[in-house]
Amino acid sequence: MTNKKYGHFDDEHREYVITDPQTPWPWINYLGNEDFFSLISNTAGGYSFYKDAKFRRLTRYRYNGVPMDNGGRYFYIKDGDTVWSPGWKPCKTPLDFYECRHGMNYTRITGRKDGVEASILFFVPLKTWGEVQKLTLKNESKDVKSIKLFSFEEWCLWNAATDMENFQRNFSTGEVEIEGSVIYHKTEYRERRNHYAFYGVNVPVQGFDTDRETFIGLYNEFACPDAVMEGRPRNSHAHGWSPIASHYIEVTLQPGEAKDFIFLLGYVENEQEEKFAAHQVINKDKAKAMLARFDTTEKVDAAFAELNAYWDSLLNIYNVETGNDKLDRMVNIWNQYQCMVTFCMSRSASFFESGIGRGMGFRDSNQDLVGFVHQIPERARQRIIDIASTQFPDGGCYHQYQPLTKRGNNDIGGGFNDDPCWLIFGTVAYIKETGDFTILDEMVPFDNQPGSEVTLFEHLRVSFDHVINNLGPHRLPLIGRADWNDCLNLNCFSWDPNESFQTTENKSEGSKAESVMIAGLFVVTGKDYVALCRRTGRDEEADRAQKHVNAMEEAVKQHGWDGEWYLRAYDFFGNKIGSDECEEGKIFIESQGWCTMAGIGLEEGLVGKALDSVKERLECEHGIVLNNPAFTTYHVEMGEISSYPEGYKENAGIFCHNNPWVIIGETVAGRGEDAWEHYKKILPSYVEEDRQTLHKVEPYVNCQMVAGKDAFRPGEGKNSWLTGTAAWMWYTVSEFILGIKPDYDGILIDPCLPKTAKEYTVRRRFRGAEYEIHVQNPDGASKGVKSVTLDGKALDGALVPFVPGKHVVEVIM
Ligand code: BGC
Repeated sequence: MTNKKYGHFDDEHREYVITDPQTPWPWINYLGNEDFFSLISNTAGGYSFYKDAKFRRLTRYRYNGVPMDNGGRYFYIKDGDTVWSPGWKPCKTPLDFYECRHGMNYTRITGRKDGVEASILFFVPLKTWGEVQKLTLKNESKDVKSIKLFSFEEWCLWNAATDMENFQRNFSTGEVEIEGSVIYHKTEYRERRNHYAFYGVNVPVQGFDTDRETFIGLYNEFACPDAVMEGRPRNSHAHGWSPIASHYIEVTLQPGEAKDFIFLLGYVENEQEEKFAAHQVINKDKAKAMLARFDTTEKVDAAFAELNAYWDSLLNIYNVETGNDKLDRMVNIWNQYQCMVTFCMSRSASFFESGIGRGMGFRDSNQDLVGFVHQIPERARQRIIDIASTQFPDGGCYHQYQPLTKRGNNDIGGGFNDDPCWLIFGTVAYIKETGDFTILDEMVPFDNQPGSEVTLFEHLRVSFDHVINNLGPHRLPLIGRADWNDCLNLNCFSWDPNESFQTTENKSEGSKAESVMIAGLFVVTGKDYVALCRRTGRDEEADRAQKHVNAMEEAVKQHGWDGEWYLRAYDFFGNKIGSDECEEGKIFIESQGWCTMAGIGLEEGLVGKALDSVKERLECEHGIVLNNPAFTTYHVEMGEISSYPEGYKENAGIFCHNNPWVIIGETVAGRGEDAWEHYKKILPSYVEEDRQTLHKVEPYVNCQMVAGKDAFRPGEGKNSWLTGTAAWMWYTVSEFILGIKPDYDGILIDPCLPKTAKEYTVRRRFRGAEYEIHVQNPDGASKGVKSVTLDGKALDGALVPFVPGKHVVEVIM
């Protein structure tokens, strides 16, 4: 497959610049980072929602459509007989110039045709429930241009799921109001809803449309709506069917002249008593106030500058200079940006997640916040409380919860036995970043039941105990429904294709299914728990916990070691999974990652052996696959993992999320060269350089899965953006490779480097202080810090104490 480049990085502006609209897959970006969000592709496809992509969907989107990526915020320009769109789609009229710049929560799309340039800046201003679209039209020709401009948005009837299925109702409920240049979408507002949406523009319009079929034509398509092709709006008023919002504006431009048009797609909630201005007329005060905030170029530019300044401040918290552009741009820009997005979205809305399926995952969100906590610790704090509130008194927890209600999701329930450990993982990361031990005293309910509150520390204790109260015959943790690998379903035994592997009855009664991965995870987070207890003066609890951690290490050494690598699990009947004895699936990545991270059997050489086995059996050109050999038949006793074709997803795909576990394991063993090689393989900027066509999905962020060596097309990426890979890549590079580790009383310096890394500087803001850390590695050492000085004074050890103010730290390896 010949590689083609569709774009390039622009580090100075923190943008990825797409120069060909026909990317191998829509390459998207996210607008908004608080309550209001939009997904936007490089051709302006996508949709917007308020807080919850399922329950408050503002605009409609068609997934997996033909052609791909249909529906979005579209502009049509009719210049004489030519009709075109600045983002190429939907018209697909060949452009004289096309460019899409995806930046930090904004996207700028520019198209040029026959001497007219249209450039649109899309962003969600801070503290705003709306998307601004600033369109600049410029006449670059020598003639006067008379242009007809049409905008277009299609409303979703709020609930994105029923919007796609309940047409006997939907086709009768749609309602709009039109006032001046603003179109209001008020479906169901008369009943229980107290919210509406609107789409306005800051100039008078010469026409509009709000009924889709009237605007487009029933058997016509987005590419060539009737109204646009004829250059004549219908001024339609939607009653049911599919309401839309389209403005019609006539523009005359002198040669060289440019004009701005500011469109705003907004969302409003009203108090029950203030819903109406008159009988059946919605109260528009809040919408008008929002429109007024963005009705001039100056106001919009100021809001945009504010957004950029906000990102300056976020990205100034951790900044590295290594001289390797590919590393620096990922660490300083894109990896941190993706962490913000995964923190906000969890696994809900992307071009692979429809936004109607999952809520927030208990384990997912705990991991996500580890990549985000240095950016806005207060939000991570709240997230921890929200997550812990969905826990049960025995330490088990709902696997997911809904972001709007923050309630546990009953459809999926609990019983995923790794889940509790992640709460320790997330909380410890928060305290190390902030030094805020008071979070441990927060009163947090179980299952959101008022009256059930205990301290967050108590939640951590029951989390820890949930593992030791659920041990199997080998004293290893019982797996329950599944551990991190949702698709290793050892207690499921499903022959019914109508059952979901995740929610089908969990036949754990009498099960001997144990997870070596949870064992490793427990040792890592258990050690963290012990250290936290000691640091907070809970010595008795620390002693108790340490005994269990030691016992778990012993159990792994005795029953979790296969000879050359760690076993993966025992099945329902007590048979080995991930053993050389097995025909397929002899070795799995998860237990190698967690047990090496935990350093189980480090002195006895188990860690090194396991890491070598990973290199020998799991590593390939594009990363480390999940298991090997891939399963070629369905094993009912293993479930979903064996249902996938070889090389995809959990069946021997490169599940990027777990590659960093091995990389951290390599750093535990001090193998800097191997750590770096593994890291580089899945680092987007390296993929960007030479594999854009094959990789297919966005080359500026990690994707969840890259097809593994057994796949039909190894190296093809899928499920970009919403993956724990973001947080893990961040955690790995910032703390374990570059070695800047927040700790309770300061920053621990502990890099693990390839020989070629001779020198670098990290600027780290930490609890309000600023540290400029120079690391020198003259002898090309992998690991081991020789000396550290703080503001010229030699330190005893590698812990740089937390002291307010500005500091210079010199590190020699
Ligand atoms: C889920 C994770 C899970 C992983 C591996 C992801 O899709 O969000 O919770 O750990 O798959 O199965």
